[in-house]
Amino acid sequence: MTEPRDSSPEKPAENTAGRTNEPAVNGIADDAAAARHAELSALITEARDRYYQLDSPTISDGEFDILFSELLAIEAQYPALVTADSPSQIVGPAPGATFTPVEHPERMLSLDDVFSPEDLSAWLQRTSAAIAAFSEGPVEWLTEVKIDGLAVDLIYKNGVLAWAATRGDGHIGEDVTANVRAISSIPQRLRADGGHDVPEFVEIRGEVFFLLESFAGLNGRLVAADEKPFANPRNAAAGSLRQKDPAVTASRGLSMFCHGIGRRVGFDIDRQSHMYERLQAWGLPVSSHNVVVHTADEVLDRMRFWGEHRGEVEHEIDGLVVKVDNLATQARLGHTSRVPRWAVAYKYPPQEATTVLLGIEVGVGRTGRVTPYAVLEPVTIAGSTVARATLHNAEDVKRRGVLIGDTVVIRKAGDVIPEILGPVADLREDGRTLREFEMPTHCPECGTELAHAKDGDVDIRCPNAKSCPAQLRERLFYLAGRGAFDIDALGYEAATALLEAHVLDGEAGLFDLGEEQLLTVPFFRNKDGSLSAGGHTMLQNLAEKRTQPLWRVIVALSIRHVGPTAARALAAHFRSMDEIRAASVERLSAVDGVGAIIAEAIIDWFTIDWHREIVQQWAEAGVTMEDELPAASEQTPQTLVGLTVVVTGSLETFTRDEAKAALLDRGAKAAGSVSKKTDFVVVGADPGSKADKARALSRPILDEAGFRVLLNDGAEAARAAATIGEAAP
Ligand code: IVH
Repeated sequence: MTEPRDSSPEKPAENTAGRTNEPAVNGIADDAAAARHAELSALITEARDRYYQLDSPTISDGEFDILFSELLAIEAQYPALVTADSPSQIVGPAPGATFTPVEHPERMLSLDDVFSPEDLSAWLQRTSAAIAAFSEGPVEWLTEVKIDGLAVDLIYKNGVLAWAATRGDGHIGEDVTANVRAISSIPQRLRADGGHDVPEFVEIRGEVFFLLESFAGLNGRLVAADEKPFANPRNAAAGSLRQKDPAVTASRGLSMFCHGIGRRVGFDIDRQSHMYERLQAWGLPVSSHNVVVHTADEVLDRMRFWGEHRGEVEHEIDGLVVKVDNLATQARLGHTSRVPRWAVAYKYPPQEATTVLLGIEVGVGRTGRVTPYAVLEPVTIAGSTVARATLHNAEDVKRRGVLIGDTVVIRKAGDVIPEILGPVADLREDGRTLREFEMPTHCPECGTELAHAKDGDVDIRCPNAKSCPAQLRERLFYLAGRGAFDIDALGYEAATALLEAHVLDGEAGLFDLGEEQLLTVPFFRNKDGSLSAGGHTMLQNLAEKRTQPLWRVIVALSIRHVGPTAARALAAHFRSMDEIRAASVERLSAVDGVGAIIAEAIIDWFTIDWHREIVQQWAEAGVTMEDELPAASEQTPQTLVGLTVVVTGSLETFTRDEAKAALLDRGAKAAGSVSKKTDFVVVGADPGSKADKARALSRPILDEAGFRVLLNDGAEAARAAATIGEAAP
């Protein structure tokens, strides 16, 4: 939810002439504007109460922002409407009845919001100019992500947590000391560290929030206990902190990051970024995403960066907060009645929206996995229309606590597939019929009874892999993909058309398709009955792509767990399909990048008749089943056969893949982990734990020069160049 912008900073609350819901205040506002203002005030006040007091809003943050912006626009035009009780003049609601009110030692301010890069630039320029009037030198900007949670005020006296409060209206908050004590990342006692004594008194401001991972777990547990799930992580954080029973708060797994400081006695500090270092030294949690930059352009870079990467943050973010880093400059700039003049929040377009869950359908994937997905009343999020959301399996539907017919909160983060966060359970009483989702017992495409793949497996599969039309369609589409045969002409529609016309009944006959067969498929036929351009491309693609290298053919077989990496490893090691088929589990799993699970999947795959027929029929059609060996003169001498080598850290003249390839080319095995059997560990810059393990196990360690010795002169020379059990080179 957006905090109020101070639309009239210099004359905050003096206009008490009339209530906002009275029309034509002082005769200045026209009736329509005053009426709309009153309507908006009521809507905003209700939304705020639901957000702050009940922790269960019924409108999204984006919808709130729109209402609030409209209110501010009306007030800008009709200043007489800016009365003391206008929502634009209030930071948040006064505390509710559940908790004891407490006064903050220093006022808790909110943040002014901007919604466009232009407005952010203008703010940076304005603020720089204001600073230039009293101070020389460049301004340092502290950029932070805006954490979507709720603010808390923590009071430490002589290093001991004395009490804690929510923000409330900025003056008076709610005493939530017992609950804050139940958050494990908030220390009860600050530790004197690095020569810094704990201060006599300090008021720390921070944000209490849910890690996305913990939020999903919480909703699952609530639903299992027949309790109401939360619509999103922010509501869950507020609902979990504002609990009567601190034991409940403790069970919820809340997190906190510090983002400010109020009253302080007994220590001095010059910059907010230095203050964070100090807080961290005292044992308080600080976000790792805070960065100091030196120019407005760099601030805009941070804004763009988080705009693109917000889906990768461990918690929800709704903006970028920009602060003047220098604390003396902050003090000189001061604040308005509501917000500091030294900080601003750039708000990203909302990633969340509410809509109605119209139904839950199931889809059948390439490997037969049956997955439910949500069918939604289309809604626009960050410029794109969302009408479907992923729901991984029946358990996942349960865990999210949604019923068909519910109003639900949808989140779309970047390119990630949209997901349902939770239901707006408070809207359930409006007479809409709701029903629980039931997983079908039979395949929606071929009617075969569905089964769990293995005991205890949550995934349900259609066992009719050979002829379930959905699985065939998905496999054909996959084998035509960029990572397999790369057949442009075989898109989703073409695959569907070939199957529906019964020209294909599986992938085996793909490379035998000829013009005559394509002409029987309307999709590949022109109106005059001739072969379409797509049909010609298809024939040409099929003729050309059958000579793709072996690894691509292996990928195209849709063997479980065998993706491009394993397929490349198999092809490089065995060089022919016959060799792979004949190999034992032991031989297969000995290949680096293969392992036991993949090895077994390969063996299982070849036990099935119709699978072997695919290979047979493709081979007869001229599909590559063997990679040609390089001519003897081009072959690298097999000087390292029988050696197992681990490469860790970064080398200057080889990428990791090149280093591995150089080893494989010479017959060595490039392993992923160090054991007693490792012959050499090549250690580059910034190595990880593998280098430590190599030392612990006294394995010979080579630096980059030593690695070259190994490649050029063999193992014996390399042993002379290696260090054993000593610090990495
Ligand atoms: S600074 C006087 N920094 O956003 C400065 N606030 O919309 C006040 N918030 O009330 C806050 N992340 O609850 C600050 N990195 C951050 C923040 C942050 C989230 C919250 C905070 C504040 C609200 C204003």
